[in-house]
Amino acid sequence: MPQTCDVVVLLSGTGSNLQALIDDAQNADNSVRIRAVISNRADAYGLQRARDAGIDTRALDHKAFEGREAFDAALIELIDAFQPKLVVLAGFMRILSAGFVRHYQGRLLNIHPSLLPKYKGLHTHQRALEAGDTEHGCSVHFVTEELDGGPLVVQAVIPVELHDSPQSLAQRVHTCEHQIYPLAVRWFAEGRLSLGEQGASLDGQLLGTCGHLIRH
Ligand code: GAR
Repeated sequence: MPQTCDVVVLLSGTGSNLQALIDDAQNADNSVRIRAVISNRADAYGLQRARDAGIDTRALDHKAFEGREAFDAALIELIDAFQPKLVVLAGFMRILSAGFVRHYQGRLLNIHPSLLPKYKGLHTHQRALEAGDTEHGCSVHFVTEELDGGPLVVQAVIPVELHDSPQSLAQRVHTCEHQIYPLAVRWFAEGRLSLGEQGASLDGQLLGTCGHLIRH
């Protein structure tokens, strides 16, 4: 088995993606070790999930800081105390400063509930339905200074059904998120996934503009 890959997960809410990562990390062949889970909200259920799994947790309230830079600097200090190789955003609902993103260049992943570059930001399922899209899905990408931007790693694509509501779509997309995020984190941990000058590569091959595509 390859060397262990220490990971810090940042979240703000329920943490179902964290749970998928915790579950996958329990497989014997998985070298991912989640060292800590950090939230900007002390009441995030994701922190409870982490505690239940015996993982260190920290809460850092952004409201206690004057401005984004000050919060991000404190967050960097907290994260770096765990010396992670990879930082994973799992529903961390904060816009990150350029300094933060640069600090973790090439080792910061995010998941977003749309087929990026479509529907950055919020209400992605509603927007896909309103646009009459026939396909929707989710994306894992390396984080750059652009909100919900950055080189794509993997996308899961699902068909939009005639009677879909934002809720039914959200549910199916969430299920896909729980498959592709552990997959992308494993790739990184195994040294198969990296970010270079020309974009993200998997097994030495540049991933195209959509990343690795999984169709359902
Ligand atoms: C997920 O759907 C994730 O894609 C989204 O937050 C949710 C967190 O769910 N992230 C973003 O919208 C980032 N722009 P979870 O707490 O159950 O993992």
